[in-house]
Formats: sequence, C-alpha cells, structure tokens
Amino acid sequence: MYEELKGKHFITLEDWSKEQIEILLKVSADLKKKFKKAEITEYVKNQTAFLMFFEQSTRTRNSMEAGITQLGGHAHFLDTSTMQISHGEVAKDTAIILSRYGHVIACRNCFWEIGNKYLNDMAKWSSAPIINMQCDLYHALQAIADLMTIKEKFNSIKNKKVSIIWAYATSHKKPISVPLSQSLLFPRFGMDVTLAHPKGYELPDWVIAKAQKNAEENGGTFQVTQDQDAAYRDADIVIPKNWGDWVANPNEKEGGELLTANQHWKCTEERMTLTKDTAIYMHALPADRENEVEDAVIDGPKSVIYDEAENRLHTSKAVMALTMNSTYAG
Ligand code: CP
Repeated sequence: MYEELKGKHFITLEDWSKEQIEILLKVSADLKKKFKKAEITEYVKNQTAFLMFFEQSTRTRNSMEAGITQLGGHAHFLDTSTMQISHGEVAKDTAIILSRYGHVIACRNCFWEIGNKYLNDMAKWSSAPIINMQCDLYHALQAIADLMTIKEKFNSIKNKKVSIIWAYATSHKKPISVPLSQSLLFPRFGMDVTLAHPKGYELPDWVIAKAQKNAEENGGTFQVTQDQDAAYRDADIVIPKNWGDWVANPNEKEGGELLTANQHWKCTEERMTLTKDTAIYMHALPADRENEVEDAVIDGPKSVIYDEAENRLHTSKAVMALTMNSTYAG
C-alpha cells in the first residue's frame, strides 16, 4: 500500500488519487498520535531533505525542519538568494545535483507564472521526490493540513458547507495557491464549497471548471458568489483570507482603488453570527489581524487556527514518510 507512494512527487493533490490522499491522512493521524506519545519515529534515518525557499516562511519551514528531524533525518535550509540560482543556474542542474546528495527536495517558489513551472522542471530531472512548499498555483501542504483539521472537527464532512472567502489585507500581494488548492480539494470529499470574492479577485477559469467537476464526481457542490454574507450564512467552516488579483492584474504591485474599495470584506464578529453555532473559523496564517479578521474572531471560540497550524507538522511528516525511501509500515 505504501510502496506505490515512494518517490512520488507532491506538487499538487490533483496528482494524488482520493485513495492516496486517504492514506496520507491516515499516516498523518498516526504520526500525530505517536508525536503526542513521544514515540521514536525514525523512518528516514540519516536521510537529507533540501528545503529551498525563494520566499519567507514560518510554518512551512519549521514544520518541515522539525518534521524531518523527528523522522530521523536532517534538513538543509536553503535561502535561494545565497545559491547559484541567483546567478542564473537552472532548475535542471540544481535538481540533478541536490538529488545526488540527498533524498528529497522541497521548494517554495511563488513567483507568478514561474513557481509551478520551476517545480515541475525540477521534478522532471530530480531522482528524489519533489515537495511543493507553495508555488504560484498550489499549496498542497496547507490544503492537506486543512482537510485533516476539518475531519478532526466534524464526525462527517460530507455536504458540510465550507466557505473560502476573500478578505481585505494591507500586506504584500499574496498568492492564490491556498484558495485554489482548497477549491480543488474540498469538493473531492463531497463538501459543499462556496468561493466568495469581490470582482477582480477571480481564480483562473480552469480552476472553477475543475472544482465543479470534482464536486459533480463526488456528491458535493461548488459555487462562486460575490456576496460575502451569503458565504457566511449557515456555514460549517469559514476560511476568510486575502489573495492578490493575479488573474485580472498579473503585475506584482497591488493596492489602489480595487483593494481599498473592498475593505469591507472582513471577517467580523457580526458576520460570524451568520454561521452555524458549531461553525469553525480557519486561516492558513499569517493573518493580517484587524484587516482580514477581527481579533475577537481569530482569538474567539470558533477559531481553530492553532490546531490547523499544528497539523502542518503532522501532514508534512506524512508526506515525507510516504514519498521518501522510508521504513514506515503503519
Ligand atoms: N501557511 C503557511 O504556509 O505559512 P508560512 O508562510 O509561514 O510557511
């Protein structure tokens, strides 16, 4: 069962079957249980993980570094600005060489229309599995941790209303990879997904078409709205988060009229009263507090942000334990 996943790249969950994702969730839960009991889990003893970052990170870097240590291996943190990539070395050369030195290469490259291509280029040449630590299109490590968290909080997730909602933020222009990955993944598990955003913050058309197909094939629904209150109403799960207007405006710079005109797209205590009593609030973090979300919500009783962030560790370990040449056997 685990053999088929050895050496498999983890770039998008679209390349993983539902059965393979179920295995990933099962192993994540097992590793979480073992972590709580302080069990030794050295399934990739003495193996090396290269962690290449083109951008900053708190959760992804540290869950991967702590994770590989707990699995008995070792991580090299690589700031790509200090590598020969900064002098133009290509993905092919980097991937071939690092995969001869170690056992997995993980990379975060969120540059629009470059990041995903870069990861796929590495995957083409690497003899070790490639793990996507977030690119311009996908954040599979985040989406799988989110699915694990939702499954922990509800007995059944079938036809639960999950709303992925754009929110105003003042910080840098963020990738679309989190809402995009969630939009594709949640309908595969029969959830009723609402994607809500103001005009100008659309996800690519192919994502909407694929999300609708995933819903049809798995007994869920997928709808898009520009009415944020409708997204909050009767929701079981709300995930309000900022993302940039990459599709309508591919330039790096954001700001100006479109952004400021949508400051009212904010997760407030009042809006949270529209959700079910049992609803949960999620955020991949970092959050732009008091812009994306009121402190009373993110620190309030419906918030599960820290459980969600913790699950980044357990799911990252599961991805490495399954895709690397490990001794994990359940
Ligand atoms: N959610 C997430 O990927 O966090 P970091 O950017 O801190 O890694």
